[in-house]
Amino acid sequence: MKNIYDNENFFYKYSQMSRSQKGLAGAGEWQTFQKLLPNFNGKSVLDLGCGYGWHCLYAAEHGAKNITGVDLSQKMLTVARQKTKAYPIHYVQDDIATVSFLADSFDIVISSLAIHYVADFASLIANIKKYLKPEGILLFSVEHPAFTAEGSEDWYYDVQGNKLHYPLDNYFTEGLRETNFLEEKVVKYHRTLTTYLQTLLKNNFILLDVVEPMPPKDMLCEPGMKDELRRPMMLLVKAKNKKS
Ligand SMILES: C[S@@+](CC[C@H](N)C(=O)[O-])C[C@H]1O[C@@H](n2cnc3c(N)ncnc32)[C@H](O)[C@@H]1O
Repeated sequence: MKNIYDNENFFYKYSQMSRSQKGLAGAGEWQTFQKLLPNFNGKSVLDLGCGYGWHCLYAAEHGAKNITGVDLSQKMLTVARQKTKAYPIHYVQDDIATVSFLADSFDIVISSLAIHYVADFASLIANIKKYLKPEGILLFSVEHPAFTAEGSEDWYYDVQGNKLHYPLDNYFTEGLRETNFLEEKVVKYHRTLTTYLQTLLKNNFILLDVVEPMPPKDMLCEPGMKDELRRPMMLLVKAKNKKS
């Protein structure tokens, strides 16, 4: 199993990003995501697509009892193990789309910016439903459907290179998008907002919150950040598992 995060060039460029260098504080959506997090104290937590393990570390520092991070990338997991070695976090190299755990294993499942790499959202949610306890919390962030729809994930520019507008097209055509991220071709999956929310409702989740985060004021001076006020880039969803 290989993914783009194990590509040497991509991995290096990812390591230069603000969120890789500064951790959660360097992530534009973190302050919003943090507010949606449930209390971790004494809880068993699963992080799907854990990357460098920043969220696992945060859960550990906030009293989580058992923490598991899943990621497909060997390179990302190597960094995660290194960064979080003071804590007994269990890392698993596997595909979040198909990884399985015993029923009712986790109180909390989080996922930050990984689910848009999964082709089949309905089957992912059906899986999560099995290993998330009744009344357990699912909190995830994905690239926003308005951001992923057209596919290029880039602005339209004038001849001077100024950003004119962000394209929205093919919104209702769900599925694979081959986009350019960190100058590499990266495959992601576009889904409508309706699909994200209705899939949860159909699986008997209770929607607790839906947020389209804007960058915090103190990050607006960073390059490109003011443009993040022009269109939504991310979607945050919090739901509770209601077992029938
Ligand atoms: C944008 S990074 C986010 C990392 C981390 N959650 C964060 O917010 O800092 C996406 C992560 O998802 C992982 N990933 C992508 N597709 C995956 C899959 N199908 N199964 C497991 N991990 C996957 C990548 O390897 C990468 O570490």
